[in-house]
Amino acid sequence: MSSRGNFSSRIGFILAAAGSAVGLGNIWKFPFEVADGGGAAFVLIYLIFAFILCFPVMVTEVAIGRKTEKNPIGAFNDLGFKKWNIIGKLGILCGVLILSFYNVVAGWAFGYFIEMIAGNFGVGKVFGSFTSDIIKVGGYAIVFMFATAFIVSRGVSGGIEKLAKILMPTLIIMILSLVVYSFTLPNALEGVKYYLVPDLSKLTNVNTIGGALRQAFFSLSLGMGALITYGSYLSKSENIISSSALITLFDVGIAFIAGLMMFPLVAYNLGGEMNDVQGGAGLIFVTLPGVFETLGSTLGVVVGGFFFLLLSFAALTSTVSLLEVPVSYVVDEYKVRRSRAVVIMSLVIFIIGIPSLIGNGYSDFFSNAFALPGGSSDFMTLVGYITDVLLMFGGFLIVSFAAYVWKKENLAIEISQGYPGFKESFVKKFLDFSISYLCPVVLGVLFIIVVLNNFFGINLLG
Ligand code: PHE
Repeated sequence: MSSRGNFSSRIGFILAAAGSAVGLGNIWKFPFEVADGGGAAFVLIYLIFAFILCFPVMVTEVAIGRKTEKNPIGAFNDLGFKKWNIIGKLGILCGVLILSFYNVVAGWAFGYFIEMIAGNFGVGKVFGSFTSDIIKVGGYAIVFMFATAFIVSRGVSGGIEKLAKILMPTLIIMILSLVVYSFTLPNALEGVKYYLVPDLSKLTNVNTIGGALRQAFFSLSLGMGALITYGSYLSKSENIISSSALITLFDVGIAFIAGLMMFPLVAYNLGGEMNDVQGGAGLIFVTLPGVFETLGSTLGVVVGGFFFLLLSFAALTSTVSLLEVPVSYVVDEYKVRRSRAVVIMSLVIFIIGIPSLIGNGYSDFFSNAFALPGGSSDFMTLVGYITDVLLMFGGFLIVSFAAYVWKKENLAIEISQGYPGFKESFVKKFLDFSISYLCPVVLGVLFIIVVLNNFFGINLLG
């Protein structure tokens, strides 16, 4: 085990896994998905899904990882179910695809850091020309991929843990301060209402339900084996249940306060007209710079610069986990040196990301040719939709595997290490029920509903 590297402490694992979970998904994606999914109704369903469906998936992933001490493909082989390693194969494919576009957006965040410290608050108004400036955004994307590759080449305990330890607390303090500030702005209350008072008629809307589940999986880094991989570095004496619960709470908590920061700002920008809210990938990049400008030139530069710098770091702990999955696979199964695996994988992923990079204004074709029913038509959005449903499908397969193939008893034996009272606990009853019935049924059905709706325009929920 020690040859693969190990987390040096329980808090190290929690921070690294939370670092994977907390990222652009919470601060960039969550607010715009809330806006696309109709506000507070989306938030409500998101919270329910995170705890009753996603938490059990997380526990299962971590347990499989720790039991086998392997990457997501090797893990299923190791348990003796080679056929099921298709879950790992899909997961690695999915991770590669996510990182290919995630790295581009992370590059934007980093680029905004540079723009902010240069005092260029107007960049939010010309977001479209920013993302089409291929020299700039291409350069930022390269820098970001380098940073990710550098950390992954140093291994989990060396790179990831240390980074997460300092950055997460700072990020939270920053967001909380912005929440306080946003509440003082005119029309803030309209934003809070939009965010927290659900319109119950939206609860059965396919974009609300399906979007909430997609977002919960993405935000918690579930369904592609990222947590199988991180679990493989977790020591046997740790409590998987309480660690997973903390990670879930932490991730959901940060998304929640990010929304609490954003919607008053959105309301302020829209003069309180929340019906005019527009989601989409530009939301934070368009709204925030204008708000930082209101702080005056000195404070605005400091707060704005610091915010996008922290956002870049949060993105970095996520890109690191995304790259770690394919890298650990290549290292384990092909006995390739870690540094070499990192170079090969990051190069491949960067190349796969080029259509996403140029599909935000620079190339007409990649910006417009990929229309989905009711969605945008750029390449990046398409890949985002594909990977979102792959994550849901992966989650469905993982719990079904654990409940019916590997068997609940074996899962329970693994969880009991580090939590001796597990077998008699209420958590076990809930987990058994959730992974045997709740998750397979709800994830399976919603997977079909979302695929039909998002890719074929067929809405089963009417
Ligand atoms: N959860 C990360 C975020 O919210 C993204 C991610 C998805 C990371 C899947 C790893 C695996 O930013």
